Amino acid sequence: MSETAGTEVESLTSEMIPIYVMGKQYMVPDSLTIMKAMEYAGYKFVRGAGCRGGICGACGTIYRKPGDYRLHVGLACQTMVESEMYLTQLPFFPAMRASYDWATTEAVGETAGELYPELFRCVACNACTKFCPMDVEVMDYIAALKRGDLEAATEISFNCIQCGLCASRCMGELPQYHIAQLARRLYGGKLAPKSEHLDAMVAKIADGYFKEKLTELKGMSKDELIKLYQERQMEPHQGGEYWKPDSEEGL
Ligand code: SF4
Ligand code: SF4
Ligand code: FES
Repeated sequence: MSETAGTEVESLTSEMIPIYVMGKQYMVPDSLTIMKAMEYAGYKFVRGAGCRGGICGACGTIYRKPGDYRLHVGLACQTMVESEMYLTQLPFFPAMRASYDWATTEAVGETAGELYPELFRCVACNACTKFCPMDVEVMDYIAALKRGDLEAATEISFNCIQCGLCASRCMGELPQYHIAQLARRLYGGKLAPKSEHLDAMVAKIADGYFKEKLTELKGMSKDELIKLYQERQMEPHQGGEYWKPDSEEGL
């Protein structure tokens, strides 16, 4: 991220509050997320922002509140500003990631410990879990991996967005999220039951299922594409688990 001239954005309904970004005070509307408040203050995100939707893990942020000794964490794109919050971003954590050959790496419980021997340096302090902005039970997936249980580690770490904040607090110096990613890759790629309907769909696509439709779309003008997009049937907010559009074309 870099600091640029302030934006012209103004808020008519918000109160202005002070926040401190890397030690410097800015007055920002209290209705903004940290990311938007920083942009309001003149920062331009060229790193440290991706999805802006709480998915990519690029915007890890550490902050403290007045009168509170604890460090808090949040995703800048999801966390609202608070008056007097003192913050900095940690968009990347340089934790070590093991190299391995996917084809020859065995999907067995011992693999995680062989590729990441530091796994056994975990002292079960739980600092990682307390720091995780996604409420992942980090210590529990590390414990599962110590037992060699790839399936449990996959399940427990499923919501990890690879922000790296857990590693920043680890007294055992583990790169927890890289180890969990290895577990998910091994379990998902080599152990989990295959999805038959996915295989069937992939085969259908390979047989040209979407070819005619794609050719039709590629032949449309920009205006025709905009109209098609705007008139599409959208899933209602309360569509329910089994909602489907009226037409099955393209499903
Ligand atoms: S487990 Fe670690 S890397 Fe994953 S979301 Fe939580 S803090 Fe971020
Ligand atoms: S912070 Fe590190 S040492 Fe503590 S429980 Fe988590 S992985 Fe283990
Ligand atoms: S920008 Fe992707 S999680 Fe915040």
